[in-house]
Amino acid sequence: MTAASGAVSLATTGQATSSSSASAMPSSKTMRILFGACLVLMGESGGLQGKISSSLLALQYLNHLDLSGNSLGGVGVPIPKFLGSIKSLTYLNLACMNFDEGVPPQLGNLSRLLHLNLEATVFSDTLLHSDDISWLSRLGLLRSLDMSGVNLSTIRDWVGVVTLVPSLELLQLSQCGLSLQHEPILQSNLSSLQVLDLYSNRIDTLNPTYWFWGVLIIKELDLSSNKIVGQLPEAIGNMTSLQTLRLGDNYLSGVKSELFKNSCNLSWLELWSNEIDQDMSDFMEGFPACTKSKLRSLDLSATNLTGRIPSSIKQWENLTDLQLSDNRLVGSIPLGIGKMTNLRSLILNNNQLNGSVSEEHFASLVYLMELSLSHNPVHITISSNWIPTFNLEVANFASTKMGPHFPLWLEGQKDIFELDISAAGIVDLVPDWFWTVFSNVSYVNISCNQISGRLPATLEFMTSAQMLDLNSNGFTGLLPLLPESLLFLDISRNSLSGPLPQDFGAPMLRELVLFANHINGTIPIYVCQLQYMQVLDLSENLLVGQLPQCSKGRDDKEELNTTVDPGNRQLSALILHSNNLSGKFPEFLQYSPVLTLLDLSHNKFEGELPTWTSGKLPYLSFLLLRHNMFSGSIPLELTEQVHLQFLDLANNRISGAIPRGLAKLKAMAQYSKTRSDNPLESKFESTGVDNHIEAIKYDDSQQIVMKGQQLYYTSAIVYMVGLDFSCNNLLGEIPEEIASLFGLKLLNISHNQFSGKIPDKIGLLRGLESLDLSFNELYGEIPWSLTEITTLSHLNLSYNNLSGRIPSGSRLQTLSNSESMYIGNNYLCGPPLSMSCSRPGVTEDHHEGNNAKKRDLYLGLAVGFVTGLWMVFVILLFVKTWRVAYFQLLDNLYRARCKCLWPKYAQTADASPKTGD
Ligand SMILES: *[C@@H]1O[C@H](CO)[C@@H](O)[C@H](O)[C@H]1NC(C)=O
Ligand SMILES: *[C@@H]1O[C@H](CO)[C@@H](O)[C@H](O)[C@H]1NC(C)=O
Ligand SMILES: *[C@@H]1O[C@H](CO)[C@@H](O)[C@H](O)[C@H]1NC(C)=O
Ligand SMILES: *[C@@H]1O[C@H](CO)[C@@H](O)[C@H](O)[C@H]1NC(C)=O
Ligand SMILES: *[C@@H]1O[C@H](CO)[C@@H](O)[C@H](O)[C@H]1NC(C)=O
Ligand SMILES: *[C@@H]1O[C@H](CO)[C@@H](O)[C@H](O)[C@H]1NC(C)=O
Ligand SMILES: *[C@@H]1O[C@H](CO)[C@@H](O)[C@H](O)[C@H]1NC(C)=O
Repeated sequence: MTAASGAVSLATTGQATSSSSASAMPSSKTMRILFGACLVLMGESGGLQGKISSSLLALQYLNHLDLSGNSLGGVGVPIPKFLGSIKSLTYLNLACMNFDEGVPPQLGNLSRLLHLNLEATVFSDTLLHSDDISWLSRLGLLRSLDMSGVNLSTIRDWVGVVTLVPSLELLQLSQCGLSLQHEPILQSNLSSLQVLDLYSNRIDTLNPTYWFWGVLIIKELDLSSNKIVGQLPEAIGNMTSLQTLRLGDNYLSGVKSELFKNSCNLSWLELWSNEIDQDMSDFMEGFPACTKSKLRSLDLSATNLTGRIPSSIKQWENLTDLQLSDNRLVGSIPLGIGKMTNLRSLILNNNQLNGSVSEEHFASLVYLMELSLSHNPVHITISSNWIPTFNLEVANFASTKMGPHFPLWLEGQKDIFELDISAAGIVDLVPDWFWTVFSNVSYVNISCNQISGRLPATLEFMTSAQMLDLNSNGFTGLLPLLPESLLFLDISRNSLSGPLPQDFGAPMLRELVLFANHINGTIPIYVCQLQYMQVLDLSENLLVGQLPQCSKGRDDKEELNTTVDPGNRQLSALILHSNNLSGKFPEFLQYSPVLTLLDLSHNKFEGELPTWTSGKLPYLSFLLLRHNMFSGSIPLELTEQVHLQFLDLANNRISGAIPRGLAKLKAMAQYSKTRSDNPLESKFESTGVDNHIEAIKYDDSQQIVMKGQQLYYTSAIVYMVGLDFSCNNLLGEIPEEIASLFGLKLLNISHNQFSGKIPDKIGLLRGLESLDLSFNELYGEIPWSLTEITTLSHLNLSYNNLSGRIPSGSRLQTLSNSESMYIGNNYLCGPPLSMSCSRPGVTEDHHEGNNAKKRDLYLGLAVGFVTGLWMVFVILLFVKTWRVAYFQLLDNLYRARCKCLWPKYAQTADASPKTGD
């Protein structure tokens, strides 16, 4: 490094300098995410490492210092104060360096500074912040300032400060936690300001007298992802220099295009996720003629537009990007679209467009890169020998009518990196070229068709593939070696057969979902090597044998030190139900500390339940061990499992009593579960996918399975709270404590040898929907408190020794099939039974009666019981995890600014990750 030249630039790539309205990106939202953001990929720290040395001070004439993107910061490392002493600096770029703590006011000494960039990464463990930015006013020559991502939320009068820097041309303060004061600020000195970026702050109102309306030379204004309510002020029409206006993701209502009557320079307009509530033709007519010829990008997604896409759309001849997703548009797509020769992206997902789409629609669209028509009942009638004039990168046709033939015209589209033709009614063989043509694809979803064929042995050469969703098709043959880049794979509900490969070849795999195939053989030990694995689902296959003996978890691991597996440290769900697996409870799970869901149901596992789970698996929420041969007693330690909310031990050989301390099961003890404390849920939350909790009803298991297959129940799993101990050899009394598990919705202890009375307080379980105590040796009267459980829709007390009057009135009598729920209790009386309570002797206790014979008889019937909640869990989980997966992928790709855009992505990207039938 020499001092002479006066410039030091050590910037790493991945950092764009200013947000610019000119871009060729297909989607404005994507662009927003990519540009001007610290592109820090997960787990990666780029460039130089270490500390900034004060020896820089020796460079007396240094005027240009660019260290952006180098990880010279870190937790507890502030921006060095001495930088404020390099007086000669005119350019200082410290963007994306992971600095922590307060911004040093010494920077205010750099009075020659023209450009200052302190942009901070929002998703990181460091937090650059400032409570006082008055030092900025000493930078009298400053032209561009970027403090995006720096927490400025405690500064009230930030506007007052920045207006003291009248030379500013570019001001970027996105994601700073800023709000605008409600008092008007009529004047400002910012007469040079051209770019104002306030993306993702906490601005909730746009006072018509705000200063920026008056800055007539502003070319670019970004207010998206704030909390602005109400009408868009007319003053916006006075900003005649505006070229780019981003207002997406606010709560604006009744947005009128007439407001833009003077906006003749507008070329980029984003209004997505606000309310326009108008017929699309009317809305488009409201723009002045000059806008029609100038506008290049228009995003009206999720604005409640109605009516048809007007055929006059073809007059908007400069449009390159048109986004109309998530509206209520009807009718056919006008042929005029085909005349919009500059079109690069056409995104119409989630409307009610019908009619047909043929090659004529795209005849002269040579630049088209994104075509997204997902979730419209539209017929794609493009002929299979048509050779498109364009080269798509993104092609989304999910839930359109594309089949029955495979869209062969896609063969030439070699640049595609995102392809979704799921649920498009395709009943065909997958063409051989598919896997080679799409070798550059990163996301493929062809799920929910009837596409058949074998997976090629060359699958591994799809070297860019990150997500492959082939679920619910007719694929046959073996699972081949997978691409090394692959993160998510779903081939569930196909007809794959044969064993799993000994080595999958995809070391980064996070989710592997292969349920409902005919895969046989054992689970290969390679699974132990998949250190990023989060979800592994091999359920409903023909797998046999013991689970792999991962070296972590083996007793003899000392000896094997040389080959210690990394361990599945990120595993959050392991789902293996309905196979023929055997052996003991898997020990290697001790090294999966975030495990949330474990489903080993319907296998041949045996031995005692482990006592270590509470210590090693603190987040375990769903433990489903139904239908195995586990024996021994329920470990006392299980009550330490504070997140446990569903425990299914049905149909095992578990004996002994229910352990004391049930009340410690906090997740079951909360009446209405609070969000956030459930790891699955918070993961889910972050994706912004809607929860449809109100709709959940699981009166009986049959219905659950049925309902579980509906998409809406995706998140229902997080609300299921239950205990199922049925069909074991448990005995003793039902502990009183059970009445403190207020969250319980399902309690089934039938087919055991429980004795004693039904706890009087059972009526405290106010959320209980299904209670089955049948086939036990319970005696005494039915507690009247049961009648207080208004949610109860399934009750079975049959085959016990209960006696006395059946509580009358209210709920219990209205349950369907009410007589059979008391059957086999010879001393019960009163309606709905025919036995009247007035007969002498019937109210006595007769608990000495032995039901053993009867039980044996009915046990035989119960063994055939196959349906159950586990089915639902599994179905739900997959739908969910696929969504999560998809967003995580996006998250990884565009890490920096996604947070506020999530909800929108959830809508527009909804199309892609769907399973279900
Ligand atoms: C730089 O700024 C700080 C605080 O703003 C001030 O105390 C200090 O005297 C200044 N240093 C020089 C060398 O001007
Ligand atoms: C920003 O700072 C405020 C006040 O210190 C704090 O409450 C808030 O959580 C911070 N915001 C972020 C995103 O860290
Ligand atoms: C404009 O700038 C001058 C100094 O350049 C300052 O005195 C004045 O207060 C500023 N006016 C406003 C409204 O900020
Ligand atoms: C727009 O500009 C005109 C002319 O300068 C002015 O009379 C009017 O008040 C402005 N409108 C708003 C809402 O600021
Ligand atoms: C959408 O617009 C219609 C009128 O066109 C209105 O009745 C409806 O409430 C709007 N929907 C939403 C979600 O704002
Ligand atoms: C309780 O479990 C038994 C055996 O597993 C099952 O047959 C019965 O249907 C369950 N009861 C309810 C209400 O689901
Ligand atoms: C209660 O369980 C018994 C035995 O399984 C069954 O015959 C009866 O139909 C069940 N009653 C209800 C209401 O489910």
